[in-house]
Amino acid sequence: MGMLRWGAHLLLLLLLLAAATWTCAGAGAGVTSEYRRKLEATVDMPLDADVFRVPPGYNAPQQVHITLGDQTGTAMTVSWVTANELGSNTVRYGSSPEKLDRAAEGSHTRYDYFNYTSGFIHHCTLTGLTHATKYYYAMGFDHTVRTFSFTTPPKPAPDAPFKFGLIGDLGQTFDSNSTLAHYEANGGDAVLFVGDLSYADNYPLHDNNRWDTWARFVERSVAYQPWIWTAGNHELDYAPELGETVPFKPFTHRYPTPYRAAGSTEPFWYSVKIASAHVIVLASYSAYGKYTPQWTWLQEELATRVDRKLTPWLIVLMHSPWYNSNNYHYMEGETMRVQFERWLVDAKVDVVLAGHVHSYERSRRFANIEYNIVNGKATPAANVDAPVYITIGDGGNIEGIANNFTVPQPAYSAFREASFGHATLEIKNRTHAHYAWHRNHDGAKAVADAVWLTNRYWMPTNDDV
Ligand SMILES: [Fe+2]
Repeated sequence: MGMLRWGAHLLLLLLLLAAATWTCAGAGAGVTSEYRRKLEATVDMPLDADVFRVPPGYNAPQQVHITLGDQTGTAMTVSWVTANELGSNTVRYGSSPEKLDRAAEGSHTRYDYFNYTSGFIHHCTLTGLTHATKYYYAMGFDHTVRTFSFTTPPKPAPDAPFKFGLIGDLGQTFDSNSTLAHYEANGGDAVLFVGDLSYADNYPLHDNNRWDTWARFVERSVAYQPWIWTAGNHELDYAPELGETVPFKPFTHRYPTPYRAAGSTEPFWYSVKIASAHVIVLASYSAYGKYTPQWTWLQEELATRVDRKLTPWLIVLMHSPWYNSNNYHYMEGETMRVQFERWLVDAKVDVVLAGHVHSYERSRRFANIEYNIVNGKATPAANVDAPVYITIGDGGNIEGIANNFTVPQPAYSAFREASFGHATLEIKNRTHAHYAWHRNHDGAKAVADAVWLTNRYWMPTNDDV
């Protein structure tokens, strides 16, 4: 009898335990996608691939790319490379290809990197532009002229719609090409690029010719719409063994950012205001400790320069993610999270975008800001003021996919999948934005993860369930 009663108690206990476990798992458990891409090597496209082709014509401008030349897009900085000789620094621009009635004079730079010498790298800022207007522009006037176009972003306004493309860790493999093609098919207005561009540093001697091939590869998009640059670890090109001890040398020579317009003192952290979005770019590989220039700048930015009435959407870009449940690059973003997370939660940041980890992950609105050295409270907790963290380092570079997630999936993680792809963030008005992640192995329009985001300032509802 006694044994039987014991057995009944044990059974009851087991049932209760099972129910509790099931309840925990069922209460908003995140999804670790079972989707597995076809196993194949992630290899760079060969140097004679059509996407790397040098444009025809003597000294033809190549590697054309644009980014904002001021904070809102009434200026646009055009960059390009000439390989044979310096050529002209002039950009002509206007409202039609036949009427390029304005001209801007740029400057040029070159750099050496170990045994490599760059071409002539031109930068020219077109100023006095009107918002939401299409412009044609041309350069290469001494020799081979090439003509492109772009549309300036809408003037900052609380309900101005805008569609961002979100791409990170792109590289120049066949998968990179697929990512870019999918993004082009989905048609964003500008790209928020979260760092790691060419992966030239994976080649012997950091072969900087791969910086050139990468720029020719992405020209088909970035010559026609601004990409907002974040510096990743593959932009460091710090190689004392080669005598190259100036960090970011190729990146800073090639990819200007409008940091001065944003009150910053370095090109690696700055902000832009595009339509209804205020976008802050942070630098994972520059100092961010208390009293450093980046720390001081961000404090002032959040306190005095963010205006949610004018630009309701507050988006932060960085390379190394703060919330990453992949064993690759695990906790590398932790020191910056400790430094800045409370500021972002207090500021009600809508979305934080990062790269670095070569897979995809989206978080719920969680924060881990209660901890101090004596209270031990170090568990991320649901927080309606917290941003959604998105890791989008799945552009498709040569290092391959990061397919080693931590188990179990942490409570803050809503969806994660080890696939290549890109995302779009389509802001509709001051309250709603539609976020969608596109996996490369589906059709361009197919969405593998999507969520409607509500604005943290104007409509802070529970949008993550
Ligand atoms: Fe990285």
